[in-house]
Amino acid sequence: VSDQRTSNLIIFGFTGDLSKRKLFPALYHLMLDGLLDKHFEIIATTRRDVDLEKFKKELKGFIEDNNDNKCDDLVLDNLISNVKLLRMDVSNPDDFNILQKTLETQDVACSVGHTRLFYFAVPPIMFSGIISSMVGVGLHKSSDAPNRLLIEKPFGHNLQSAQELCDLMGMHFEEDSIYRIDHYLAKDTVQNLLHVRFFNMIFRQVWNQESIESIVITAIESIDIQGRSGFYEHTGALRDMIQSHLLQVLALVTMEQPKDFEVESVREKRLKALKGLRLVDIGTAKRGQYQGYRFEVGNPESVVETYAELNVRLMSDEWSGSMDLPPVAFKLRAGKALDHKEASIVITFRDHSIPNILIITMQPEEGFHLKIATRKPGLDNNQTEMINLSYHYDQTEEEKHEAYEKILLDVIKGDQTLFPSSEEVLTNWRLIEPVLKYWRDNSHGLAFYEKGSSLPIK
Ligand SMILES: NC(=O)c1ccc[n+]([C@@H]2O[C@H](COP(=O)([O-])OP(=O)(O)OC[C@H]3O[C@@H](n4cnc5c(N)ncnc54)[C@H](OP(=O)(O)O)[C@@H]3O)[C@@H](O)[C@H]2O)c1
Repeated sequence: VSDQRTSNLIIFGFTGDLSKRKLFPALYHLMLDGLLDKHFEIIATTRRDVDLEKFKKELKGFIEDNNDNKCDDLVLDNLISNVKLLRMDVSNPDDFNILQKTLETQDVACSVGHTRLFYFAVPPIMFSGIISSMVGVGLHKSSDAPNRLLIEKPFGHNLQSAQELCDLMGMHFEEDSIYRIDHYLAKDTVQNLLHVRFFNMIFRQVWNQESIESIVITAIESIDIQGRSGFYEHTGALRDMIQSHLLQVLALVTMEQPKDFEVESVREKRLKALKGLRLVDIGTAKRGQYQGYRFEVGNPESVVETYAELNVRLMSDEWSGSMDLPPVAFKLRAGKALDHKEASIVITFRDHSIPNILIITMQPEEGFHLKIATRKPGLDNNQTEMINLSYHYDQTEEEKHEAYEKILLDVIKGDQTLFPSSEEVLTNWRLIEPVLKYWRDNSHGLAFYEKGSSLPIK
């Protein structure tokens, strides 16, 4: 493991759900695979007493539940022994002196410079306060090794707040030190999109308006908001899922081939695709709320959507350039408390009574399924039947890695390819802003659906 991976991870929000369910399991697996440097240290900031032994027990249970009951105690002990608890309240600027001193002491004690990774695992409303407090004590200036910020989504609450956050960060940090996390982009299937598209002639030839009729990107869950009413009342499905994950996936599905797979080239083409998106007609944007939501959040008037659906077009030669054909129809939809869990991209090809369909699944399992029309077998038969060519990642011998492992490794290496740029995030907000405004100004049009309903929500 190179010196490049000698890092300090400073966590704001150590006691939160994300830290327990995503961040620490990922750190455990990286350590298990020998991918963390032995100098790797974790500074966990907390505003209350934390019992690390209790945390370790919970983490062990979580790792076992998701790993065939297996957990290597030695690795887990090692991981937890690298955690240094630091009592501070991140909403209090003065407390950042404590952090600054701790990091300074560590730098003096250590011969190699540590890359400082600041992980913002706190409610988004706290992001700008933390940035200002870091600047206040000089933590924005790098020592002899770079600072990197890992910012969880949602990045901003609307276009204005996202722009303000970008401006604030841009004033004190270089763009190449800001990692806006969109864990969908780190999923194996999603990373594979560019390979499948650009390294296979059969897909390269048909990935356009002439051959494709529609692309539907779905991310639905059977679980409800699970008590996270504070977060959800402030967010809703459009902001939570479509503004970030689904638009970024759409960018990968539709972007032009980059000249190489370096960060600048990939980001440039993703951004171009996102900039070409237009809402079909604001009235076709749908929203729904599951019955019982208002009671759960204690707000009888709530119009927050637990289901959202957006129809868009992409203005480009490939996707809408031909006047002889309708432009490719893109639909993005996300929701909670539906009849099953699914995250998928469904690509329907044109020009057949029984269309060919390519389904790329991201959840519950990752894989590719191609439905093609064939002649039904038999001696005297000319009927067509669909057959399904399927590949699941579970079939591979390769060990599976969670998205957060890839995220952490890329941040340690300094590779920003899988992280949206500020321009990408702002472009996404520009697209959905009119819908947010339309829904705010028009209280009608909210469909109520029963928990466990199936799509489409009417
Ligand atoms: N959970 C997920 O699966 C998930 C997925 C994607 C993105 N995210 C994003 O990740 C971030 C964290 O989410 P979460 O689900 O982990 O939230 P959470 O469970 O509510 O945890 C929030 C964390 O912030 C800490 N915090 C709040 N106010 C603080 C203060 N004044 N001083 C110090 N610490 C404070 C909390 O500490 P206390 O324990 O002391 O209250 C807690 O550790 C959010 O931006 C969220 O949108 C979460």
